[in-house]
Amino acid sequence: MSYGRMDELTNKNPIADPKRRDFLKLTATSVGVVGVCAAAWPFINSMNPAADVMAVASIEVDISKLEPGQSLTTMWRGKPIFIRHRTPEEIKAAHDTPLSTLPDKQTDQDRFGKNPEWLVVIGICTHLGCVPTERKNMAPAEGGWLCACHGSRYDTSGRIIEGPAPRNLDIPNYEFLNNNTVLKIG
Ligand code: FES
Repeated sequence: MSYGRMDELTNKNPIADPKRRDFLKLTATSVGVVGVCAAAWPFINSMNPAADVMAVASIEVDISKLEPGQSLTTMWRGKPIFIRHRTPEEIKAAHDTPLSTLPDKQTDQDRFGKNPEWLVVIGICTHLGCVPTERKNMAPAEGGWLCACHGSRYDTSGRIIEGPAPRNLDIPNYEFLNNNTVLKIG
């Protein structure tokens, strides 16, 4: 019985030969997979972030002019970032706050232990997303930020100490560059 055309060179029936049949199946499957990938690539590629988006994935901020007791606000990925050069008194006030009084129990050491002089937080209230205002010219224990929307108060470590916010101000990924004169966020 004939199962197909005989191969002219080998004089074998390629379909009847199990090894060649497996080879043909594998080849056909591989061609199919390559074809699907090629067709899907433009779609997959379109989901990659655009170059301009990647460009702001991280930012560098010059903090060399920021004296103790001074703050600045910068923008990163559309969010305000509060950077404060904390005074020794502010750091002490944050350390002295009893952990038991905090709704979101985090020590100042946990938050800024690596470089306690510098506070870096995302300036968005963790209640409903308003931007808190810095409480300027206050005694260190009274410093920090106040969210005027519903009265959440954050201390000099950005921890919630009063009001409806459920957790402390978030901390972005950051690192210091150039001997601590430039902050890279993101
Ligand atoms: S949004 Fe800040 S307290 Fe409600």
